[in-house]
Amino acid sequence: MFFGLALFPEQASTFAPEVDSLFFYLLGVSVFFTVLIYALVLFFAIKYKRKSDDDQPKAIHGNNLLEIIWTIIPFCIVMTFFIWGASLFYRMNTPPDDALEIFVVGKQWMWKLQHPEGMREINDLHIPVGQPIRLTMTSEDVIHSFYVPAFRIKMDVVPGKYTTAWFEATKPGKYHLFCAEYCGTSHSEMIGTIYAMPPHEYQEWLDERSPGATKMSSGGEALFTNMRCHTCHNANSGALGPNLEGIYGSEIKLSNGKTVKADEAYIRESILKPKAKIVQGYSPLMPSYKAQLSEEEILEIINYLRGLEASSPTHPREGGDLLKDNKQSDNSHE
Ligand code: CUA
Repeated sequence: MFFGLALFPEQASTFAPEVDSLFFYLLGVSVFFTVLIYALVLFFAIKYKRKSDDDQPKAIHGNNLLEIIWTIIPFCIVMTFFIWGASLFYRMNTPPDDALEIFVVGKQWMWKLQHPEGMREINDLHIPVGQPIRLTMTSEDVIHSFYVPAFRIKMDVVPGKYTTAWFEATKPGKYHLFCAEYCGTSHSEMIGTIYAMPPHEYQEWLDERSPGATKMSSGGEALFTNMRCHTCHNANSGALGPNLEGIYGSEIKLSNGKTVKADEAYIRESILKPKAKIVQGYSPLMPSYKAQLSEEEILEIINYLRGLEASSPTHPREGGDLLKDNKQSDNSHE
C-alpha cells in the first residue's frame, strides 16, 4: 500500500506469495540490468570520448573468454526464470486428488456456480479455507475468463470445452471475482464475490442449504432416465450402446483403433457429437443431444457417470489389453 492505494491485491491463496515472489524476482533482475547497462553506456561515453581528430581506438579481434562469460551468465539467469516459472505453472495446473469440485458455467453476463451437493450460486461462491478447490469450467456463449486476483488465478472459460483451475484459500474473507476477457456490453458487470470461510462455517452454510438442493449426481441420474439414455446404455450384452458403468477415467477403445481416456471432455463430446468417437464394436446410432441439454445439465450427467462403479471388474478395459487388441485391429486393416 502506498498512500492508501493498493498496488497489489491481497495474498489469499497458497500460490499468491510465490507468484508475487517470482514477479518481484523478474522485476528485480530487469531493474538491475537496466541500471547496469545505462550506467555503463554513460560511463563509457565519458571515459572513451574522442579527444582529438587522430585519436584512434585500438582494434580488438575478438575475445573468447569474454564471449563465453557473457553467454553462460545470462543463460544461467534465464534458466532460473524458466525453472521457477515452469515448476509454478506445472503445480498451478495440477489439482490435488482430494480437491473439492466446483462447476462453473460462464454466460453473458454472469457466473453460474454449482457444488456437487447440488447448491447453485450466481456470482457468489462459498468455499472453505485450507481446502484445495478444483474448478471445472465452460461457457454457454463466448470466451470469458475466471479471474480472482487475491488467489492469483486466471483461466479462460471457453465455449465447447472444459478448462480447469485450482486454488487453496488461506485467509477467510470476501474476494473479488472478475471476468477478464472482453465478452460484450456488460463485460465489466460480470463480477462476483468469493466467500472464503473457516471450515466449520462452510459446513454450516452447506448444511443449511443442502436439504433443499438436489445432488448434481441425482440430477444427472434423473436426466439419464428422462432422456432415455439407459435404453441403449445398459449392462445387457445386446445393448445398442456401451455400458457406462465404471467408464469414467478408463481407457476407451475406438473403432478407428485409437484409445481415448473417458474424461469430462470425452463424455461431453460423446453427448453432443456422438459420431466423433465411436466405441469399438458399436454402430454410430446415437443422435446428438446438443439442442436438448444445457451445459449445466451435461455437467450433471458427467457427475452421475463418475459415480457409477463398474459392475464387472473383469470387463476388458485395462490399458495393457487395449494396446494388444489395438495392434491386432491395426493389422487387420492392412
Ligand atoms: Cu465475461 Cu467478460
